[in-house]
Amino acid sequence: METARNADRAIRGMFFDLIDDPWKYADKEREAARFLPDGLLVVAGGRIVDFGPYDIVAPRHPGVQTVHLENRLIVPGFIDGHIHFPQVRVLGAYGNQLLDWLQKWIFPEELKYSDRGYAREAAGKFFDALLAAGTTTCQAFTTSSPVSTEEFFEEATRRNMRVISGLTGVDRFAPKEFLISPDDFYRESKRLIERYHRKGRNLYAITPRFAVGCTGEMMDRCRQLKEEHPDCWVNTHISENPSEVRTAKEHFPDCSDYTQVHESHGLLGPKFTAGHGIWLSNDEMRRFSKAGAAVAFCPLSNLFLGSGLFRLGRAKDPEHPVRLTLGSDMGGGNAFSLVRVMEEADKVGMCNNTMLDGSVDPRAQDLAEADRNKLSPYRAYYMATLGGAHALYLDDLLGNFEPGKEADFVALDWNAGQAAMAWHQSLAAGESGPRTIDEAAQLLFAVMAVGDDRNVDETWIAGERVYKKAKV
Ligand code: GUN
Ligand code: ZN
Repeated sequence: METARNADRAIRGMFFDLIDDPWKYADKEREAARFLPDGLLVVAGGRIVDFGPYDIVAPRHPGVQTVHLENRLIVPGFIDGHIHFPQVRVLGAYGNQLLDWLQKWIFPEELKYSDRGYAREAAGKFFDALLAAGTTTCQAFTTSSPVSTEEFFEEATRRNMRVISGLTGVDRFAPKEFLISPDDFYRESKRLIERYHRKGRNLYAITPRFAVGCTGEMMDRCRQLKEEHPDCWVNTHISENPSEVRTAKEHFPDCSDYTQVHESHGLLGPKFTAGHGIWLSNDEMRRFSKAGAAVAFCPLSNLFLGSGLFRLGRAKDPEHPVRLTLGSDMGGGNAFSLVRVMEEADKVGMCNNTMLDGSVDPRAQDLAEADRNKLSPYRAYYMATLGGAHALYLDDLLGNFEPGKEADFVALDWNAGQAAMAWHQSLAAGESGPRTIDEAAQLLFAVMAVGDDRNVDETWIAGERVYKKAKV
């Protein structure tokens, strides 16, 4: 326990966080969560040093400077496990499905990120948008130019944010100017690892973009990097789009499926994340589970690019659970907001349930799997916070309000935007907000179903307020 002398400050208010995976709790999901109608979070050196009911915690810290956030629901900062920094200026571009969209919009835009000024200006806008969305941690792609990776980490460092990123390896499928040779990729990745990995809150991910854009030599270099830097993360895309899956199979004919491309290059394991995974087979999901590898579920992007419906209930098989993080996949996803990502994830789950004749949708094997597709507020906020942290092997640092963790959090304003209508009209709670954990969960569902960035009133990083929504 810290004393008042070494506590920097305390935040008083209404808190909600997850302490376990709610999928394990059937109809007792609330036991996986914690709600404090009047709580106190005490921070020192950017970390949480004490947390609990105000009446109990406050006397342990006499005289500590306290900020009282009234009429707000404070939740852990959102974790975006899959996003593209250099796509911030092509967010919402009209186009076809994945492979065409990459050629038409993405590669030409990302090419501009070898210009330091262009990349730096975009980095400022990118991090501003993350914070306005309540996202305090992201795992991000950059481009095949080291300049973009440097500018990403430099801006993250200025903001003191916990991020994962790395140089993106592509040595085929893109225009010639965009490609990086496996040798250059290896050399530059090593230089960037030395410069940024575990410097401040930065973490490095070895990043083969996807099997369609990487030759066997590029994948071999990724394996070598992972062997030489086992502490680094690995970030990629997998089984997003049917044409992409077919092309990947043609490129790696010796692999029985897409997952084997990563297995055979020694990458599938802890701290490995692949975005999308829509078309993974049951067997591939089991191998992800066994390896401790994660999938980033990116519903906004999966719908925006017409890629398909992720089988959430299958991934949450209690016998072989796959680690899952949510991803905006901005600009494949058409928003930064994890509130909106949760909303779309819920809709995808709802579409995976029953058929016209009442039978279970063949995308789910049985009723139990269909039920696991549903996204209660407990499940949704778990994926956006503690679940994402667990998927990324960051749950010792992030994801909830346990003392010792980093003090990144968001104050949600349920009266902002249109969420207020849903809340006041249909939910039985007091004017001053939720009084019980069930009411808090209903309110959080209303926020995700109806809300967006407008409901993010403040974002705090390492115990400092870094974003406050402008008054309209
Ligand atoms: N696969 C390879 N690159 C990309 C990308 O930039 N976005 C998406 N959604 N999928 C990819
Ligand atoms: Zn992506």
